[in-house]
Amino acid sequence: MRALLTKLEQASALDRVGDRLQRAVQATIRPQRVRDLLHGVFIGHPLHPALVQVPVGSWLSAAVLDLMPGQRRAATTLVGLGTVSALPAAVAGLNDWAGLARDQRRVGLVHAASNTVGLALYAGSLAARLSGRHGTGRALAYLGLTAASAGAYLGGHLAYKQGAQMNNSAPELNLISDGWHPLADMATLPQRKLVTRQVDEVSVILYRHGDEVTVMLERCPHQSGPLGQGEVTEVDGHACVVCPWHGSTFRLNGGEVMHGPSGNDQQVLPTRVVDGVLQTRVP
Ligand code: FES
Repeated sequence: MRALLTKLEQASALDRVGDRLQRAVQATIRPQRVRDLLHGVFIGHPLHPALVQVPVGSWLSAAVLDLMPGQRRAATTLVGLGTVSALPAAVAGLNDWAGLARDQRRVGLVHAASNTVGLALYAGSLAARLSGRHGTGRALAYLGLTAASAGAYLGGHLAYKQGAQMNNSAPELNLISDGWHPLADMATLPQRKLVTRQVDEVSVILYRHGDEVTVMLERCPHQSGPLGQGEVTEVDGHACVVCPWHGSTFRLNGGEVMHGPSGNDQQVLPTRVVDGVLQTRVP
């Protein structure tokens, strides 16, 4: 199975379809605030994994009820709930998928295809149940569950092996040793300019505004882009840094994500000034 998944990650034959679909998704899901909503910017982590709980839970519960006598109506209700709730989950997933790296998009394409087959089978199951053909409805639902399970397996690979929509900067905190680390002489730190420094082996950015200095991890949580090379801009009255790779935008006074494709906030580090020297440590 691992060898198969590695082949899938490298399957460049999928890129033609993937690139077209990516352009279509980017052209269709607009404006930016809709994209941000679907990325989960408003909750500070990706929305898609949260939304999929509803169809998965409904369909699994329906599969159990289908094995029990006298539960047709309840099973039909759950199949309907799962089918309807799968649609927003799919849209959020497509929105995330369009911002992934190429090898991730290949696996994501097959993940989406499996789930689409699953969704179509569940829609057929619902139609059959509503027209009184419960045996057909049950059979289609079990086929749908099989397809959706294959999709879920690929989704797990995409997230946990390939790191899609995970916070790709947070693990860097583990590389910083305990205690306060000197970063910069306050007298030489420029106002409202990004400055990059190292804490142990970890790159951080400094942004001074008056006597306050924000220190945050430099690697973008989306796909490790260099925030130190990003532009500083203002969003809703807040100074923000824009990732130069895909445009994720983070508040410089707190790290909250303002625009995706990152659904995750950026990690800010505590600071203090001792004898005119700015110091930081792991939170
Ligand atoms: S790496 Fe993709 S937005 Fe930063």
